[in-house]
Amino acid sequence: MIAIVGVGAIGGVCAAQLGAVRGDLLCCVRRRFERLSLRGPAGEWTSAPRIATDPAGLDPATWVLLATKAHQTSSAAPWLEALMGTGSTLAVLQNGVEHVERVSRWAGADRVVPVVVDCPATAIAPGRIEQRREARLVVPDDAPGRAFASLFSDTAVEVSQTGDWTTAAWRKLCINAVGGAISALAGRPLAEIREPRCAELARALALECGAVARAEGARVDDDFCAEVAERAATVRSGGRTSILVDRLAGRALEVDARNGAVVRLGARHGIDAWLNRRVCTLLADAHLVPREDRLPALISALPS
Ligand SMILES: NC(=O)c1ccc[n+]([C@@H]2O[C@H](COP(=O)([O-])OP(=O)(O)OC[C@H]3O[C@@H](n4cnc5c(N)ncnc54)[C@H](OP(=O)(O)O)[C@@H]3O)[C@@H](O)[C@H]2O)c1
Repeated sequence: MIAIVGVGAIGGVCAAQLGAVRGDLLCCVRRRFERLSLRGPAGEWTSAPRIATDPAGLDPATWVLLATKAHQTSSAAPWLEALMGTGSTLAVLQNGVEHVERVSRWAGADRVVPVVVDCPATAIAPGRIEQRREARLVVPDDAPGRAFASLFSDTAVEVSQTGDWTTAAWRKLCINAVGGAISALAGRPLAEIREPRCAELARALALECGAVARAEGARVDDDFCAEVAERAATVRSGGRTSILVDRLAGRALEVDARNGAVVRLGARHGIDAWLNRRVCTLLADAHLVPREDRLPALISALPS
């Protein structure tokens, strides 16, 4: 059995795709839906997957795909305790770089597949997913990573394996810690942001993230950081990132796994990621005032 815990945007894309080719899928949700519908670049899928709203009495699964937001992981504990058995492997489809550590209560590193997710999508209602671009997942090039990739063969989800997952994860984190944070602070998509010092802010955030990434062994050089910053500051189209969707909906934000990780892991190496720390402070309660523009408060912290 393949169990998906958290069937929002990313869990929903995986459930729709896996459901089309495998019969043994279980969607573990806290808000029941009858039909799963996915509209995306590869077409439209509608299905009626097996749904569970209570982990009591469930048998362990062969695969557990965790696709909640990172900060919702501990709330998913009852699911993971029921579904993880001695033969289970846990794939963590979340942002950040601490996938393995985040689930260490339920599985040792040899039974965890950390997944870098590139798939812009939104759950517009329980069981209704809109996907804006193809889904691309990146996993380590090891035996569990290869087994995970084979789950998705014959689906529209592209899974690639890399011998340097750390670099892939930090590059994605750099994009999130810059563009995701700026958009969430402003409360609007990057394409609508016109603040004069936004480019400077993006660059400073990216360089701070890059310094920590390199200290952690990732290949994230200043040129890559400059590109990420340039893209964030000049983008003129594009939808709402998942962190912006959460802010506008008044939901707690996935900031600790992103900018928080830059601060936390930087401290391990004696790097003071003060600008990312400021992001964490400004975003900690931003969802309570979704329309307040907090970008000027961060820009004013830049040296003049
Ligand atoms: N969406 C994107 O474009 C995108 C792209 C790349 C990476 N990611 C990353 O992928 C991960 C998943 O994001 P997402 O956008 O799919 O989030 P999402 O749409 O908010 O989906 C998360 C789902 O988890 C469910 N959930 C939370 N706690 C639960 C619990 N205790 N038991 C059962 N279900 C629970 C939520 O249920 P409710 O509906 O009841 O809240 C929701 O359906 C995040 O780390 C995100 O940063 C997202």
